[in-house]
Amino acid sequence: MATIAPKRPEVHSSPTAYEALKKHFEEHPEERLQHTHKWDVSRSDIYAENTWHPIFREMREAGPLHYIPESPFGPYWAVVQHKAIQHIEALPEVFSSSWEHGGITILNRLTEEEIAETGVDRRELPMFIAMDRPQHTGQRRTVAPKFTPSGMAEMEGEIRQRTGELLDSLPRGEVFDWVDKVSIELTTGMLAILFGFPWEDRRLLTFWSDWSGDTELATVRELDEMRWGFLHEMAAYFQSLWVERTHDKEPGDDLISMMIHSDAMNQMRPEEFMGNLVLLIVGGNDTTRNSMSGIIYQLDKNPDQRKLFEQKPELIPNAVQEILRMQTPLAHMRRTCTEDTEVFGQKIKKGDKVVLWYLSANRDEQVFENPDKLDIERENARRHIAFGYGIHRCVGARLAELQLRILLEEMHKRRMRVHLAGDVERVRANFVHGFRKLEVEITEF
Ligand code: HEM
Repeated sequence: MATIAPKRPEVHSSPTAYEALKKHFEEHPEERLQHTHKWDVSRSDIYAENTWHPIFREMREAGPLHYIPESPFGPYWAVVQHKAIQHIEALPEVFSSSWEHGGITILNRLTEEEIAETGVDRRELPMFIAMDRPQHTGQRRTVAPKFTPSGMAEMEGEIRQRTGELLDSLPRGEVFDWVDKVSIELTTGMLAILFGFPWEDRRLLTFWSDWSGDTELATVRELDEMRWGFLHEMAAYFQSLWVERTHDKEPGDDLISMMIHSDAMNQMRPEEFMGNLVLLIVGGNDTTRNSMSGIIYQLDKNPDQRKLFEQKPELIPNAVQEILRMQTPLAHMRRTCTEDTEVFGQKIKKGDKVVLWYLSANRDEQVFENPDKLDIERENARRHIAFGYGIHRCVGARLAELQLRILLEEMHKRRMRVHLAGDVERVRANFVHGFRKLEVEITEF
């Protein structure tokens, strides 16, 4: 590695930012966001308390999509059926992902006044997940080759070794938090391998990209400021890695080197490079982590399926799909309508916010029989849309699947059975769907 690289910037992020915010809103509950509409599924309590099922079921029964006239995030269309989400994602020109129109989550862009007041401007970090064609196509191409089957095969050995080591180091006969000790550790390890990120600093990756910030607690602006503070810090750190890698004589096979030396890189502005790196870290972090927690939660709650997994390890690849369906680590993605149009009989206006609830689509009884039951033999488990659909379908899907498969295989090899044995704390947010804490104990089968 070149010696001329600048010193990496110090990291100032506070691991207690989330706790501070949580405490503040516990003391000032009146400042929580107010939700009045019965179908306003942007409310975070239903995810924190796991009570969303009957609400979405009622909405699906009533139709594929519904207009929600009021919410703390403004009016929006809630798309709740599987076929309607696929239909909308197949029309990316009409339903835009771009920041210019509004971006990819239910949060609104800051207004010009708010940007001036806070100095926070999301548009500073362009990412291809929030771009439309043709820019999206070119930029996605710079990273996609890393995620091909051969790219995955190259990573498998190292991921398997790290996973095995971690499982061997877990405490026996005592209760511990699976989220912290396993889900976070394996996910950050995987990202560190992917980026060639300094191993000793890998926990920073978790820390910077903890987007599961509490959407109910924080006001939209506070959330934005917190996230963007972290993102800028992360961008500064990566800039130093970028400079190091640019001077490497032999380009490495990590994702950063690959991007730097790709042809399309010539057409990318530095801030786009940074934005896309941030996207990969954020995109791969909470999502994979919560699938790893979902594995434990789902198997514990379904002892018949756990037995089946223990008896038939050949079911693991399908079990991965089924667990992704049941967990759905990202509850929604958002689009903005670019022209007046009609979808399944509903008139959507130019500028309308359209929220695609994957969480609901993956429980759609028109597609999945007995959808609330984990069934690792389910024939159509692969039809889940936890990775989205269409041109923006998750670029890291294969890597996520690989990691989850390895985790289940290595647990099976060790005859490891993991029981819930204490607190289960869920994320209080309407975007990231997962667990903050999962206290478990390990036995053998
Ligand atoms: C896009 C889910 C893992 C990187 C997406 C989308 C979803 C998603 C729902 C948006 C699709 C759409 O708008 O139609 C997940 C889940 C994961 C996961 C559930 C784990 C279980 C990863 C990993 C990475 C990654 C491991 C990379 C390290 C990305 C990127 C995009 C994306 C870069 C943008 C793709 C585009 O706009 O073309 N993911 N993801 N994701 N994901 Fe993932």
